[in-house]
Parts: sequence; structure tokens; C-alpha cells
Amino acid sequence: MSAVPASELAPKSLPADAARAPLLERLAHTQPGPHLSVIVPTRNERDNVIPLYNLLCATLNERNWEMIVVDDDSADGTAEVVCWLAQHDRRVRLLSRIGRRGLASAFVEGVQASTAPYVAVIDADLQHDETLLPRMLALLENEPVDIVVGSRYVDEGGVGDWDAGRARISALATRLGRKLLRVPVNDPMSGFFMIRREAFADALRNLSGIGFKILVDLFASSPRPLRARELPFEFRTRHAGESKFDAMIGIEYLMLLADKLIGHIVPVRFLMFLAVGGSGLINHLVVLWMGLNLVHMPFAAAQGLATGVAMVGNFTLNNMLTYRDRRLTGWKFVYGLASFCAICGIGALANVGIASALFADHAVWWLAGLAGAAMSVVWNYAATSALTWRQDGG
Ligand code: GDD
Ligand code: MN
Repeated sequence: MSAVPASELAPKSLPADAARAPLLERLAHTQPGPHLSVIVPTRNERDNVIPLYNLLCATLNERNWEMIVVDDDSADGTAEVVCWLAQHDRRVRLLSRIGRRGLASAFVEGVQASTAPYVAVIDADLQHDETLLPRMLALLENEPVDIVVGSRYVDEGGVGDWDAGRARISALATRLGRKLLRVPVNDPMSGFFMIRREAFADALRNLSGIGFKILVDLFASSPRPLRARELPFEFRTRHAGESKFDAMIGIEYLMLLADKLIGHIVPVRFLMFLAVGGSGLINHLVVLWMGLNLVHMPFAAAQGLATGVAMVGNFTLNNMLTYRDRRLTGWKFVYGLASFCAICGIGALANVGIASALFADHAVWWLAGLAGAAMSVVWNYAATSALTWRQDGG
């Protein structure tokens, strides 16, 4: 076991008790905490967890490591398998999250649950080459390096069996990350790396935690440039189960970029909410036009229908995009829709109230209208984020 010298771990101001003889005597006989935590985010990876554990055991054998699986309420029994494994080997731990999603935030919370001076993240599906872990660790231990990235885009690296479409998207996302956020590595999209705890801790409070791309987030959130190294590896074929990669991940990535670029000025969720609202306006007008001109409905009926369609559309889009990490499914979707409509109804009343009051007070018509609309958008955003898409997943 490679124990960490106590001096290296000692926080700046330990309580006086920490230096007293009985404690030091006791600590001389305990097993030190892990030196390396390997965080494994999972969504439906039941058949991959044990093969990955076997590979980690083989490659990290005599080191003092642990594996922390962060599972987002998988339906296939992933958590049960991890639980069973953890009962046989205390180096395996499980963090179960309910009502929350996202690879990036799973990694962040996994690190938060560990105390090791070095932390790594690796896919559960055996696509990443775990035999790099000892070399990553050696670099962090022996050289002035904050982070070591497993890279597909340096000599000898590769994207394996990806189809041309996925490879193109990845290349584009890579260029955007490197140009817009000035991430100084060849593969900022990699989901495989190891980082020094202090470097993570310094970036932690600035992290966006949106979506899949935690590495870009870390580089862009660190208060000082991260000293990085890259080690090449060839992306392997997924072992069992299915990839969670879909078109939404692209949208989340754009949200991450927007958050890093302008998030300190306006929250990117609010911008997304506005964009969805804008699309709702277009929906509304299209349905209204069709109701009047194609179905020849009375105006009030067509306007009512258009309002309903726009509300359901806005709710569905916000649930898919703006609040993807807290998205509601099943009955929660239905209750969420009801609360969304109720809140937006109140917003509409406030809108009309404020606009009418301003108009009566001799404001220009468009200014009065705009003020009412702005008021209702802010209300709708604030109230639905607090009630419809509550943080606890309700
Ligand atoms: N906890 C949690 N929550 N885990 C998740 C979630 C989630 O919402 N979504 C995906 N995962 C887990 C998967 O179970 C898997 O272990 C890992 O995150 C990566 O997901 P994959 O579905 O296998 O992604 P991929 O193979 O398409 O992409 C991976 O490799 C890329 C290239 O290195 C990811 O690591 C990407 O981040 C990376 O860019
Ligand atoms: Mn994968």
C-alpha cells in the first residue's frame, strides 16, 4: 500500500486534538483512507460493473484505491450489483442519486464523496483503457501536473469504432471547446482523466455541472490554468448495454459553452427558458392562424386552443431541454404540466394587470405591453424552477 505521508494530507489548521499522543498512537494502527478514488458514473450498466471491477483490480492491484459508482436510479439493477460487490469488498462504494441526472454532476458528487488526494473518472462500459490509470497516477505524484487526460486525439490515440457522423460531431465539439474556452488539450471531450484533489476543489464552486462534458467545465472553471498532460488511448467498443449519447447531449454542450461564456451575466437556464418561450409564441400564432383560417373556429376558441398548445409545447420543451437534469416522467410529468399551466396562468394575469396599470398611467402602449410580458416571463421562470422542477426531483 502506498500510504500518503501524514504531512501531505494535514489541513492548514487542525484542531489541537490532532497532535495529541492518544490519537497519534491510534492512527499508527489504522488503515489509511484511499489514495486514489476512481469515479464510475452509471446509467443502466448492470452487466459492465463486475468486468470493470475485475479490470481495476488487475491494474491497480497493490495500490490503495477505491471505486465509487455514482448511479442515477438505473432501472436494470446496477445499484444492486454494486451493493452486492461492496458488501464483499470495502474498496467498492455506491452513491445512489434519485431525481437527478447527468454524467458531469455524477462525477462532481462522486469526488465530493471521496477524500482521496487523487481522483479519476472512467466509463463503466470498458471503452476507456484502465491500464493508463497507474501512469496517470505516477505523473500526478511525481511531476508538477494537475490533470492527466486520456486522449483519443494525440499520436497513437483513436476513436475506435465510432461512425463517421459521431466522429465529425466530436471533432466539431472539440474545436468549439478549444477555441471558445481555450482548453489547452487535444481531447477536451474525453470522459477519462485523473485530477489532483486541490485542483478540483479550486474549480468546484465555478463548475456548471451541465451535461456530459465535465473536462471542458473543469478547464473553464479553474481559477488558474490547469497544468495538463495527455496520454493516448484507443477508444474501445462498448462492452454491454447501450450508449446514452444522443442529440440532447449536443444541446447540453452548447448550454455549457454559453454558461461558461456569459453565465456570470445571465443564467443560461433563463436564456433557454426565453428561447422556449419564443418558440411557444410561434406555435401559438401558427395554431391560431390554422384555427381561424382552416377550421374556421370562433376567435376565442382558436385563441384558447393556441394557448393550450403553446403551454403544453413549452412545458414539454422546457422539460426536455431547460430542465433536462431534473426532467419529469410518468405521473410527475402530468403533475408538472398542471403546475406549469397554473403558474403561467398567474403569470398571464400579472402580465395583463401590470400592462393595463402602466397603460392607464399614460405609458406608451408597447412599453406597457413589454413591461407586462417581462414581468410574466420572470415570474414564470422563477416560480416554475422553484415548484415545477424542484431541485429535489419533485
Ligand atoms: N450517473 C450517471 N448519470 N451516469 C451516466 C449518465 C447519467 O445521466 N449518462 C451516462 N452515464 C454513464 C454511463 O453509464 C457510462 O458509464 C458513462 O457515463 C458514459 O456514458 P456512455 O453512454 O457510455 O457515453 P459515450 O461512450 O457515448 O461517451 C463517453 O466517452 C466519450 C469519449 O471519451 C463519455 O465518457 C463522454 O463524456 C466522452 O466524451
Ligand atoms: Mn461509453
